[in-house]
Amino acid sequence: MKIAPSLLSADFGNLERDVRACEAGGADVLHVDVMDGHFVPPITFGPVVMQALKRITNLPLDVHLMVTNADHQAEQFAAEGASWISIHAEVCPHLHRSLNNIRSLGCRAGVVLNPVTPLSFAMEAAEAADFVLLMSVNPGYGGQSFIPSFLRRCETLRSWLDANGLSHVEIEVDGGIKIGNVKDVVNAGASILVSDSGLMHGDIAASIKAMREAV
Ligand code: DX5
Ligand code: ZN
Repeated sequence: MKIAPSLLSADFGNLERDVRACEAGGADVLHVDVMDGHFVPPITFGPVVMQALKRITNLPLDVHLMVTNADHQAEQFAAEGASWISIHAEVCPHLHRSLNNIRSLGCRAGVVLNPVTPLSFAMEAAEAADFVLLMSVNPGYGGQSFIPSFLRRCETLRSWLDANGLSHVEIEVDGGIKIGNVKDVVNAGASILVSDSGLMHGDIAASIKAMREAV
């Protein structure tokens, strides 16, 4: 089980302080939400921020690309030190090519599905992926409510992956993850837990430790 705090609610005037707090809490990876103002309304980080993050931490950087031009941006973020890159099936029509390209850049490749996107998109592409990110909210904003159908979707996908020789493909969950529901999502088969509003306000290190204990 890996905990991936999202930097979406980090204090950008004190980014290093918040990254240190994530490290102190035992975060396994830092989740970097890249939004382009097209695929989702807000605009967040570009590769220059990634470059700065890379200078201050050795934690793997998990780049969630909520962008329409994912192939191009994957190359930019890989060049700045991303360790994991995930791309949305809804805007990537050539998933095998895109995922293979991310792997060839030296990164772990993930395919992301919005809450209503059929699981078959991930199943068909799973051989080219290292992880599947199942959204448990519609992407674009932190602080939204967990959509309960995630649990059924996650159980179905986990069983399918295990039954098809793809046990090594991890499931990441993103959206509305809090101490109160982490046990349920892990029981459903998720092994990478993204959380922004559940961790990044108040004492970040203590919240990460509490989340791990809750699981
Ligand atoms: C949503 C982003 C998430 C977001 C999660 O579009 O992909 O990573 O930061 O925020 P919370 O944990 O507050 O739902
Ligand atoms: Zn995300």
